[in-house]
This record gives sequence, structure tokens and C-alpha cells, in this order.
Amino acid sequence: MRAMQSDYMHWAKFKRPVRYQLTGSEVPHFRMDSLPWTVADLDLDGASHPRYRPLREAIAGRYGVSVDQVVSADGTSMANFLAMAALISPGDEVLVEHPTYELLLGAASFLGAEIKRFERKPEDAFRLDPARVRDAMSDRTRLIVITNLHNPSSALAGDEELRAIGAMGARVLVDEVYLDSVVPAPRSAVHLGPEFVTTNSLTKAYGLSGLRCGWILAEPELAERMWRVNDLFGVNQAHPAERLACLAFENIDEVLGDNPQLLARNRERWNDFVASRDDLDSMPAEHGITAFPRWRGGNTEQLDSVLRERYDASVVAGRWFEMPEHFRVGFGIPTADLDEGLNRLGSALDDLK
Ligand SMILES: Cc1ncc(COP(=O)(O)O)c(C=O)c1O
Repeated sequence: MRAMQSDYMHWAKFKRPVRYQLTGSEVPHFRMDSLPWTVADLDLDGASHPRYRPLREAIAGRYGVSVDQVVSADGTSMANFLAMAALISPGDEVLVEHPTYELLLGAASFLGAEIKRFERKPEDAFRLDPARVRDAMSDRTRLIVITNLHNPSSALAGDEELRAIGAMGARVLVDEVYLDSVVPAPRSAVHLGPEFVTTNSLTKAYGLSGLRCGWILAEPELAERMWRVNDLFGVNQAHPAERLACLAFENIDEVLGDNPQLLARNRERWNDFVASRDDLDSMPAEHGITAFPRWRGGNTEQLDSVLRERYDASVVAGRWFEMPEHFRVGFGIPTADLDEGLNRLGSALDDLK
């Protein structure tokens, strides 16, 4: 049965709000009204129709690629979908990491792919291991799908592992939506060769999910194919959002603000918290916006229920990442909120001992 919906996204949109949300995976929202612009900057002049060039130039400039390698899309979500739609046909074998972001599986399934998996092991700090990819591959594998940083664990894959995977003969789609939260940000895997296709957006590291400014980087011929697929879907993006995205790129340092410091501080708080607990196993958080510890108490849906019911707080239960004994915690919130959220998480864990 091909996927016709995402249960994870439905849950993420409609879950009951709580005061201490450790469920997020994005830095705090950036306020566009802190930048200098007026409504006149959002002129609906039709410039969007032929693939709005100023935005493609801004993306190309920031990531060191040519403009014809950039395809813009509504968020990394649509970028992933367009990339897969251009790369796979029904019945093609697609190899996807486990655990992973559910929507990557959903997109491949919707497009009729035959999905196979390879493991990223918690005991190996969720490292991307090319040997495991090779073992899972067959001569029918058309596409390998990876997140870097890894969602949910934030493990960082280096060029060496990625190159080894690129040499296996299939295209490699790397979802890099968390990569820009690494300091300094590594180069996009698109620079490793034409077999690599990468996706990203102004969502996670920039706090601008509302703009839905996403993109694909790919070799020009493939990029053209993706643009043509896009004509079947949204045709254009909303032009005011494209204009605001250009403004964000022009002021990117201001948009990033002190988020790198916030994340570094919050990861330290998290690492201290884990070190103080004998019921959690987690690799130290070094990068990114999320961590994915294992709870020795069992199914973390129970943990999340207690957190919600007694402590007005929440985490993402591991079942959403196909590992029910793990849970995902996000660091992209003010440090005082994280401190209080972790206090409450500690209380919930104690209650369940
Ligand atoms: C791996 C991954 N890709 C894509 C997305 C969606 O990002 P966007 O807001 O850019 O569509 C998310 C959001 O959780 C994600 O974790």
C-alpha cells in the first residue's frame, strides 16, 4: 500500500500544546519585522513565474553552486518530494536509513518505490556506515536517502562516508535541513559529485519555517527535470514569500543571530542532564538541534503521557522514528525553558522508576 498521508505530520500539527515543548526541532522563530522592508517590497509583479532568479542567485551564492543547480521549493518537504519524483519511477528500489524522518519514507512510498532499509545503530552513535549501506544495496537500487545531520540523532556524516556511498552506483539524496546548525557549517554534499542531490531550507537553523523557502541542489540536467516536475504541482511559489526569503538571505547574519550560542549552551545543559541520569543512554550532543536518547524504562509513549498529564511538557516518543524505546528532545528553545523542561522530564522519569 502506498502512503497517502503522514501520521507523524498530522500528530505534529495537531498535538495538544504544552508549556514546555521539547518536541520542536527548529530555533526560535525569527521576526521579519526586525529587518528593514515595507509592503511595497512584496510587489506582485509576476516575476515569480519564470523561476524567480534573485532567490536562486541568493541560494547559489550562499552554497557555492551555479544558478542552474538550484531548484526552489516549498520547504525541504516539497524539495524532497520533487527530488524523489524526478529520480524514481514506480517499482524502483530506494534505500532509506533507519531510523529516519517519516516523511522521507512517505514520499518514496507515495511515488511507488520499493523501500529497503539500512541501519544507523545507537550503539555506534547512529554513525552513517557505508558498509551497512553496501550490504543493503542490490543492483536495482536507484536511490539512497540520508539525512545529514541525522534526524533524529543529529549525528554528523563526513565527506569520506558520503563519498564512499556516492561511489556505490545509485543517486544519493541528502536532506541537509539541519546541516547549517553545525559551526562552521560543512559544505553541502552536492559538491562531492553529480550523483549527489541535496535539500535544505530556511526552516531549522534559521527559524523561518513560515516562509516555506526550501531548495534542491543538483546537477543542472537533473535540476531542470525537477523544475519540470514542479510545473505539475505548485507551478510557482508565493511571490511575497520569495521576496521575504531574498531579504532574509541579504541579512543572513542577523537572521542567524545568537542561535549558534543558544544551541551550544543548550546542548551542554542536555549533556549535563543525561550524565546525571542512570536511566538514559545517549551519545553526547555535539551538533544540531535534537538528541535521541534511549530510556531504559521501555516504551516512551508512556513517558510522554506522564510528561503531558502531570508536567505540562512533552517529548517526541520514539515510535515516530520506529524506535519506541528512544525519544527525541529539541534544543531550539530559550535556555530557561529548556532548564525547566529538563527538570520536568527528570520528575517524569523519576515517577516511572
Ligand atoms: C529531516 C527533515 N526534512 C525536512 C523537514 C521539513 O522541513 P521544511 O520546514 O523545510 O519543509 C524536517 C522537519 O522536521 C526534517 O526533520
